[in-house]
Amino acid sequence: MSFWWRPLFFVLGIGLAALIATAGKSVGSGWMLFAAGLVIYLIYHLRQLSRLSAWLDSNDRPPLSGDGVWGDAFYRLEKLLRERRGLQRKTAADLEQMLEATRSLPDGVVILDQENRIVWLNDAAQRLLGLSSKRDLGQFVLYLLRNSRFVEWLMSEDLARTLTLESPTAREHTLSLQIVPLPRRQKMLVARDITELARVEAMRRDFVANVSHELRTPITVILGFLEAFEDMPDAHPGEFRKHIPLMREQSDRIRRLVDDLLALAKLESEPETRDETVDMPALARRLADEAETLSQGRHQIKLDLDCQARLIGNSQELYSALANLVTNAVRYTPAGGRIGIRWNMSEYGGASFSVTDTGEGIEAQHIPRLTERFYRVDRGRSRATGGTGLGLAIVKHVLQRHQARLKVDSTVGKGSTFTALFPNERVIPAETVA
Ligand SMILES: Nc1ncnc2c1ncn2[C@@H]1O[C@H](COP(=O)(O)OP(=O)(O)OP(=O)(O)O)[C@@H](O)[C@H]1O
Ligand SMILES: [Mg+2]
Repeated sequence: MSFWWRPLFFVLGIGLAALIATAGKSVGSGWMLFAAGLVIYLIYHLRQLSRLSAWLDSNDRPPLSGDGVWGDAFYRLEKLLRERRGLQRKTAADLEQMLEATRSLPDGVVILDQENRIVWLNDAAQRLLGLSSKRDLGQFVLYLLRNSRFVEWLMSEDLARTLTLESPTAREHTLSLQIVPLPRRQKMLVARDITELARVEAMRRDFVANVSHELRTPITVILGFLEAFEDMPDAHPGEFRKHIPLMREQSDRIRRLVDDLLALAKLESEPETRDETVDMPALARRLADEAETLSQGRHQIKLDLDCQARLIGNSQELYSALANLVTNAVRYTPAGGRIGIRWNMSEYGGASFSVTDTGEGIEAQHIPRLTERFYRVDRGRSRATGGTGLGLAIVKHVLQRHQARLKVDSTVGKGSTFTALFPNERVIPAETVA
């Protein structure tokens, strides 16, 4: 509640006192007495103001006493300050608790300013990244972690990308690095020790590669015998002969599965592609011819070569990936449908290879999962057409190794377009092709 009216009473009181004291005397002496009263009143207020100012300047701020309107103001001010101090103490305690928790996190945390200078780091960051909170605060992190992949990754500012790196302090440890944006253009670099995960992943890769490799020889032998049996129709009883085609078909499926698993294992074990110049128009022509053979006249196949550009990449890998897009279009488009194969410069820069079909189409919920291993929209149908569900997983891997990406547009009942988008850096434009 405000007491603004109290000073008014005081002024009126002084006036009344002056009036009573000078009753029957001259008006001038009345005014003088009133003015003197006001001056004393003003001096009183100035003194209270100076007390307040001294109190605000002091560090310890002892309790302030006062009366009237000042007593009330002092009381409220003190209460406000007490509350603020309490809030500050609580905020500081909360902050300290959070810092303590972050300090002892098992993941390394480094706060960087907008120029990538270290603002703060926790204990795990010191252990995993070999940084020091005593020595390295204020230093540019790129000068301290001198790894070309790390530099390229941090400068790319691609927050969705994580980086897998060996620890600079212990080479046998594998780290996964991630950037989290913070307010005021600061960022948080998070380093996780994924050594165990990487070991299990390597075990999985080796296991699949070894099993596939071991299966390859027996299945080749079985297929060889079945082919020989097929060539000697009279040498076997009728019942046995009847089953040979099915046995061949199923053995062929196993061989394709083994081949695809081995192809994936190979892609995973070699981090980089062996680059060469790939004649994309020739590759597109070859794929169109193969589509014709596979389709056996059931589809109308059209090739659009809108550019003569070539690609820097691995021709074998690109062939197997793009052939899968073409094979899928033939497989999943009913007879009478149209299939378009196109190689052109993309409007967003770079070049694109696309395969369009007027097939059954894919429901939107399946699209993000198509590149998962063994994922098939309709298992029965895919199996019937000989699919293993590894084709698009291979496509994804191959494109990733070429810094390219796969775009899928599809409408159920109308058809699909699968596009491989290659970045500009990999494209050799037609003008420079001799
Ligand atoms: N053009 C397409 N139209 C409709 N569905 C498709 C098309 N391409 C792929 N799909 C769906 O995506 C699934 C995954 O394709 P993917 O190429 O990975 O495997 P697959 O063709 O079944 O077997 P694989 O290629 O290993 O022989 C397919 O099973 C099919 O359901
Ligand atoms: Mg396929």
